[in-house]
This record gives sequence, structure tokens and C-alpha cells, in this order.
Amino acid sequence: MSKVEIPAGLKELLQGYTVEVLRRGPPDLVEFAVQHFTRILEGQRNNQGDKKRSKKSERRGVSFETKSNTPKKVEEEEEEEEDTVKPTTGKYNRRVSVCAEAYNPDDDEDDDAEPRVVHPKTDVQRRRLQDACRDILLFKTLEQEQFSEVLDGMFEVLVKPQEHIIDQGDDGDNFYVIEKGVYDILVQKDGVSVCVGKYDNKGSFGELALMYNTPRAATIIATQEGALWGLDRATFHRLIVRNNAKKRRMYEAFIECVPLLKSLELSERMKIVDVVGARAFKDGELLITQGDAADCFYIVESGAVKIMIKNKTKAGQQDNTEVEVARCSRGQYFGELALVTNKPRAASVYADGETKCLVIDIQAFERLLGPCMDIMKRNISQYEEQRVAIFGSSVDQLH
Ligand code: CMP
Repeated sequence: MSKVEIPAGLKELLQGYTVEVLRRGPPDLVEFAVQHFTRILEGQRNNQGDKKRSKKSERRGVSFETKSNTPKKVEEEEEEEEDTVKPTTGKYNRRVSVCAEAYNPDDDEDDDAEPRVVHPKTDVQRRRLQDACRDILLFKTLEQEQFSEVLDGMFEVLVKPQEHIIDQGDDGDNFYVIEKGVYDILVQKDGVSVCVGKYDNKGSFGELALMYNTPRAATIIATQEGALWGLDRATFHRLIVRNNAKKRRMYEAFIECVPLLKSLELSERMKIVDVVGARAFKDGELLITQGDAADCFYIVESGAVKIMIKNKTKAGQQDNTEVEVARCSRGQYFGELALVTNKPRAASVYADGETKCLVIDIQAFERLLGPCMDIMKRNISQYEEQRVAIFGSSVDQLH
């Protein structure tokens, strides 16, 4: 009988997979295997890439790098001259081709070796930055210490009308938070550039290429003068991507149980976890106001919410009293209607007791929840019936 040789590394690979299966208990072993081994492969490529890649960072303004908390001025690298512009000038160069990190949040020990980047700011700048970052979902699950490191690492970028902040297909250099300005989002479809949405004076973009080591997925163009805050790739990786590994561990089990998301692949559900923010509300707190413009979608993680609609008189006039039309508790979602119909919020939503929700912004909602649209539309038609039952036929059309 011929002797069969066991290839080097096979035992360790299989053992690693088995341990992960026992640790996480995934519902689908094959799908989990694909994910597990893809992560290992990306990690290997990442290591090779790291060796080749120069540590030069892009679009840095005046930077102070420190491992302790005492800032010390760093000598500008020779080659940085052409890539670096002071944040206050608002000009910057684009990252050209740089071999980027693979997405592997569990394998981030090297990030500790990265020096901490600090862009000094005036009090006024810091206040403006804090305002711009207040509702950024990606920052909502950071510890206070990490959040202040993010703020330290951000630099101001002033932009002119028609300026391309990001070009689809490029490597990712920075993540951006919007302080002001309107920005078109364009995606190439069959060779044609289609405007798929816009950011209007709030929000953030540019996270995908940095999180998943992919080319830029869209082009972002300023339609007017604006101001952004950038965060370089290395700092984003060290603080946000690493935090995503923690978020995945925290929310994986919960997200698996959300009925709406059942039809998604595990990897699609994890992409949702990567971009969600967690928000806590006090009893009676208003989450959504009827008539407001909509920009996010919610999933109840704990507690409950009451959905209330302004009462109508027989003549169809609105009065100021509100009628409860529904409740959502753990695993249920709300806030999708206005995003799907492109209309103002059709109801107000209040926390019923201490409540926690996961929040997804409209861009991520459109990008990631397309496969769940049929279920949502089916449920939306039930709202209509519910409203007619409560208010009679004087009720507004939902869509
Ligand atoms: P990134 O791919 O790094 O750069 C382009 C950014 O556009 C992307 O990250 C998202 O932040 C943002 N974006 C907004 N809408 C979309 C969309 N529909 N598809 C892809 N990217 C989008």
C-alpha cells in the first residue's frame, strides 16, 4: 500500500477551523468554512502586502505622532512633500496605488506598533469636529478613549465645487466625516456613471475600501464648497476596524435572530454589523418625529418602542393628540417606510422604557438591505390596513 503524505499545515488548518466552529456554533458549517478560510487567505496576502508596502500615509496635514500622550513633531518624510498638504489649505493628493490591508479585524496586533497620529486643532476646530462627529454611527460603539484618539487623528479638508473626493476604483486612503456641503454619490453601472444618492451636510463616507481592502466602490463629488474631516487609513484601521471585531462578537448572535435578516448570507449580516451604530434611549425619549426627513433605519436590540400617529378628525384635520398604532420589541425593526417610499416620517416613535437600538444609515440601508426589500414591502402594505382600521378612510396614503 502506498504511503499517503499529510501536507504540512493541514492538521493545524483543520484544527483551527474546528476550534472556531466549537467557539462560535455557526448555523451553516459550509458557509462558515468559506468565511474562515477566506479570512486566513486574506491574512496571508495581507502579510505579504505589508512587507511590500511602504508605511507612507496619505493626505496628512501637520502631524504629531506619539506613542505616549505627549505630542512630538515628526520630521516630514522626504517623499511626503508631494503627498502632504497642511489641513488648513484644504488641498490634498490622492492615494495612488498602494497595496492595502485585507480585512481581518481579529489579526490586528500589528496596529499597536503604529504610531498615534495627532493633528493639532484650535478650540474652535475641535468644537466643529465634535459637532460633525456627534451622529456618526461608526463612532457610536467606540470607548471614550478610542473616540478621542479618532478626534485627535482627524484633519480638516476644505473642498471646492466639482472636486472629486473619491474616485471609484482607486485604493482607499482616508475615511471622511462631513462637516458641511452636499456630495453626490456616483456608481458605474454598465460603464455609465449613475447618481445613486447624495450626502446633504451630514454623514460620512469612504469606510468600505478601508474596512474590506477593496477598491473605492463609488465616486464622491462635492457639488458646492464644503468642509470634511479626514481620518487616515492606518488610524481608521487601528481604531475602527479593530472595534468592528468586537462589534461582530457582540452582535453576531443577536443579528442571527433578527427575522428580517434571515434571508441574508452570514457575510452580508456581518457587513451590516460592521456599519451599525448602537444607541440607547431613555423611557419616553423621541427617536423619530412624524413629518421629519428620514436618514436611518432601526432594529430594537432591547426594550421596546411605541409607534404613534397624529390623530385625525372626521374632516381629515390633524389634531395634536397621538394614537398608538404599533409596538416593536427585540429583533423587530422600524424606520424603513420613509426610506423605502422617499417620503417624510409617517409616524413618531418613542422609547417605551430603557431601550437600545442598532441604527443603520440610509446609504448602508440601500446598499445592504436590498435583498430584504420584499419582506419590508409586504409589511408596509399591512401598515396601510392597520391605519385604515384605526383612522378610517381619511388616512394619508403611505406610498
Ligand atoms: P468606499 O468604497 O471606501 O468609497 C466610496 C464610498 O461611497 C463608499 O466607501 C461608501 O462610504 C460610499 N457609498 C455611498 N453609497 C454607496 C453605494 N450605493 N455603493 C457604494 N458605496 C457607497
